Amino acid sequence: MAPSKKLNWHTTALHAVQGANLAGKTSLVTGGNSGLGVETVKALATAGSRVVLTSRSVEAGNKVAEQLRAEGVKGQIKVMQLDLADLASVKKFSKAYLAEERGPDLLILNAGVMACPQSYTKDGFEMQIGTNHFGHFALTQQLLPSMKALRRPARIVVVSSRAHEMGSIDIQDLHYRHRRYTAWGAYGQSKLANILFAKQLAKNLEGTNVKAFSLHPGVINTPLTRHVYGTGFAGWAVQNLVSIVGYPWLKSPAQGAATSITAAVSPDLESHSGVYLHDSQIKVPTKAAQDMDMAAELWKETERELAEAEKKLTS
Ligand SMILES: NC(=O)c1ccc[n+]([C@@H]2O[C@H](COP(=O)([O-])OP(=O)(O)OC[C@H]3O[C@@H](n4cnc5c(N)ncnc54)[C@H](OP(=O)(O)O)[C@@H]3O)[C@@H](O)[C@H]2O)c1
Repeated sequence: MAPSKKLNWHTTALHAVQGANLAGKTSLVTGGNSGLGVETVKALATAGSRVVLTSRSVEAGNKVAEQLRAEGVKGQIKVMQLDLADLASVKKFSKAYLAEERGPDLLILNAGVMACPQSYTKDGFEMQIGTNHFGHFALTQQLLPSMKALRRPARIVVVSSRAHEMGSIDIQDLHYRHRRYTAWGAYGQSKLANILFAKQLAKNLEGTNVKAFSLHPGVINTPLTRHVYGTGFAGWAVQNLVSIVGYPWLKSPAQGAATSITAAVSPDLESHSGVYLHDSQIKVPTKAAQDMDMAAELWKETERELAEAEKKLTS
């Protein structure tokens, strides 16, 4: 059965979580300090989950946690530092998380960077695929045994984008060392990688307690656009102008987080592991995003490059 038709473009995260009792569960949201992440944390905590909010900046994360408590959100919110563009940080985070927590029951891979100038992570990965795909892949690898050990339904939700339609995977040159870099091409590649990762993960996890999903959240005016509109006063002005002119087409962050919440809690999705969602409904992504040969190749290459980077870290 697909998710209720009552869930659609207008649905907010708080609406999508209605009816879910997450008491006794632990959720982890990457990039929980901004945009869709804040609304995702809010909805999960409102439904009773203990939420681990990860943020590059603990200060920014704490500010959001305090703000949500002030709004009356009752669930426990714990802030932990995590930089996905640094595998040493991912490793340090996982170690600290696993020392104190179980699972998580719900792992929401939400953090992302969009259309930045050509740059590289600490481990030498192109910044967009490095953060959006490699960082989340490494985190998942490290937390998965603990998720399986829960022996109860658990889910991994990968926040992708319709921008996957603009990208293609070049397995020989994932990091733009040989082809010409374009900010949108690299974003598209990273978001296509997100969908292929979720599909391969779902396949690998068949018969286990853990399911995986990916999604497009809609178009929402968040700080994600910083590399597009610029920063400072000019960026602020463009962002506000876009909010006004784009009002009929833009979702609010609360609406933007609804599809992540549907993927995380909808009981109707339990037998649909691997699907891609849009507006809280199952959608068919592009052909490239359904290519399971490429999903397997990308998985192998990601594992290989992460193992190589790990060797450098420990040498
Ligand atoms: N907004 C949209 O229209 C839209 C459309 C399609 C898909 N998406 C996807 O939705 C997700 C959330 O985006 P958003 O719109 O909520 O953007 P946002 O407000 O900019 O939030 C992105 C989050 O990711 C974090 N992040 C960036 N680089 C990171 C790193 N190296 N390590 C750890 N965290 C990092 C950011 O941290 P800082 O605050 O420290 O920068 C922030 O918390 C992204 O995956 C994005 O690709 C958004």
